[in-house]
Amino acid sequence: MITTFFSIALNLISCSPRADSVQPEDTIEVYTISGTRITAGIDSNSTLKSVAPFPIGAAINPRLLSSIPLYKETLQREYNSVSSENCFKMNQIQPKAGGFYWKDTDALVNFAKESNMRVHGHTLIYYKSLPEWVTSFQGDSLAWENLMKTHIQTVVGRYKGVVTSWDVVNEAFEDDGTLRRSVWYEKLGADYIARCFQYAHQADPRALLFYNENVVGKPKKLTAVLALVNNLKKRGIAIHGIGVQMHININTSEEALTTDVRQFVNTGLLVHISELDIRMNPTYSTNFTLTNALQTRHALKYKNVAKLYRSVVPKSQQFGITNWNVGDADSWLRKTSPCEDYPLLFSDNYSRKPAYYGFIQGLTN
Ligand code: XIL
Repeated sequence: MITTFFSIALNLISCSPRADSVQPEDTIEVYTISGTRITAGIDSNSTLKSVAPFPIGAAINPRLLSSIPLYKETLQREYNSVSSENCFKMNQIQPKAGGFYWKDTDALVNFAKESNMRVHGHTLIYYKSLPEWVTSFQGDSLAWENLMKTHIQTVVGRYKGVVTSWDVVNEAFEDDGTLRRSVWYEKLGADYIARCFQYAHQADPRALLFYNENVVGKPKKLTAVLALVNNLKKRGIAIHGIGVQMHININTSEEALTTDVRQFVNTGLLVHISELDIRMNPTYSTNFTLTNALQTRHALKYKNVAKLYRSVVPKSQQFGITNWNVGDADSWLRKTSPCEDYPLLFSDNYSRKPAYYGFIQGLTN
């Protein structure tokens, strides 16, 4: 509460006011950068899902589906996959010991069903977003094991055959490649990760199981993730894919991204760009101005990410690309950073941004 108040106060004090809106979509044809022209380049019936050769997803908050009609419309028009932004996290789905809260996750899966969308569950075991009863839990390793197993199997079991893929474990490593001293590691040892996959597989043998991590620009962590998944594979433990989060910015180098993704491709597993957003204001400048040139660079970065995914990941390993939120106003970056940014494909009022057209071009050309 205090932190929230502090960050809002900081926002008001240190950041320039947000620009009222991004450029209307019909002006994007004029943007040029380094001789490259960005044009809409699609016919008016095209949508992300209609042009993409693999599923295109968005992380969603099911509560916004009823409160913001345009949010729902945009999702139904553009996307054929959804991830849960927060509602499957342990503090939300099991806020009390043994007391599961299904309302939001049921709403999410029902929406996906009526909209013909795939559901990717994020996430079963995470060092963050833990309920208080877990962080204060007293028990021996057997009791901890039972807590972790029961959580995984209750959640996966309820949505068996409906949530068809899961981020089983999220962000288990530190940037230096060592295992994070999470409560799971401390209580259960390094091999808790393998057991999470086994428990999830027992609960739904057909579900696709992913390890999800934020590795971009973190080579030691990337090496550690590769070692983990190769070890799980060697031991015959069910792991089907790697989630590459991809919270990047307009300066992130395509070469580095390509190298990272290629290494994951070499595991033979599915590769999911699981949390794509691209910050326009990576330095958290308090004097940020949304210019056409910046929007063009942003559009090109989206284009290049889509292109590199298509060129580096073989079709058989393309699980899809998921945007982390839909419109800029919903972005977690707006909530976690005090400064102005426009990281997504859709504006605050869900109109298509230059980034949208850049992404479409990358998906098609
Ligand atoms: C973020 C959500 O978007 C926020 O709403 C929440 O306050 C914090 O978590 N990597 C992850 C996601 O794997 O679970 C995080 O989601 C973003 C970073």
